[in-house]
Amino acid sequence: MGRLENKVAIISGAAKGQGAFEAALFAKEGAKVVLADIDLESCQSNARNIVGSGGEAVGMYLDVTSPTSWKDCIKSTIEKYQSLTVLVNNAGIYSRIPIEEASSEEFDLIMAVNLKGVFLGTKYSIPEMRHSGGGSIINISSTAGLVGNQGGGAYGASKGGVRLFTKFTAIQHASDNIRANSVHPGPIDTDMIADNISTPEGRQNSISRIPLGRIGTIDDVAMGVLFLASDESSYMTGSELVIDGGITAQ
Ligand SMILES: NC(=O)c1ccc[n+]([C@@H]2O[C@H](COP(=O)([O-])OP(=O)(O)OC[C@H]3O[C@@H](n4cnc5c(N)ncnc54)[C@H](O)[C@@H]3O)[C@@H](O)[C@H]2O)c1
Repeated sequence: MGRLENKVAIISGAAKGQGAFEAALFAKEGAKVVLADIDLESCQSNARNIVGSGGEAVGMYLDVTSPTSWKDCIKSTIEKYQSLTVLVNNAGIYSRIPIEEASSEEFDLIMAVNLKGVFLGTKYSIPEMRHSGGGSIINISSTAGLVGNQGGGAYGASKGGVRLFTKFTAIQHASDNIRANSVHPGPIDTDMIADNISTPEGRQNSISRIPLGRIGTIDDVAMGVLFLASDESSYMTGSELVIDGGITAQ
């Protein structure tokens, strides 16, 4: 029996990186998985691989900044799988541009994807989760949502917003049996930070800040997300799961 048997999960940003890996892991643990992203082709191809390995999955188009897109994705999920019990708000974009150099447009874009996207996904999933008897919402924040950093500004603001929005969701929907928790990864080896760690100096610079002495991997985060999606975490809501090799313990 899988750890996510009878769960139906939407994972945003599942075309690649952490979201794609979590989709495959969730399906292996028995969930029916909707891989949702602006990159529909990659989601469909990832879903075909999951189905080929005996899992249940489908790829769908989703632009997390668009209310219409969320409504369509959730409607199609219900039509296909008849319920919705897990939402992983994972889609995100990153920028290290310092505050003085960042443009107003860039700030708006980062907020739209990383923070408004989480709001919209939560808002439109809640009625279906309530109807399904409850659910688990997992919002992927960052260590940049906990502490400051030399690079960026808008990114940290968006991830800090996700941290607190998660707690409001947890409080307002505990009585619906809907849980909401945030996950705070440190640097994880995906395309998102490829520029930072592509040179030996860049990689060494990142590693020098990490007590455990290595960059995180997608399965480091996925195991935490799996736990939060499963009933094993049924007494956890409004909490922060930090997966950062010890960075924020310093
Ligand atoms: N990689 C890291 O070091 C790191 C650290 C902390 C937090 N995170 C967070 O983890 C999450 C996953 O990032 P990743 O490392 O897998 O990065 P990634 O760049 O590999 O994947 C991000 C995915 O989000 C999708 N996406 C972007 N805009 C979208 C939109 N408007 N609608 C739908 N999908 C959209 C992209 O197409 C892509 O598939 C993000 O929220 C990121 O901020 C990453």
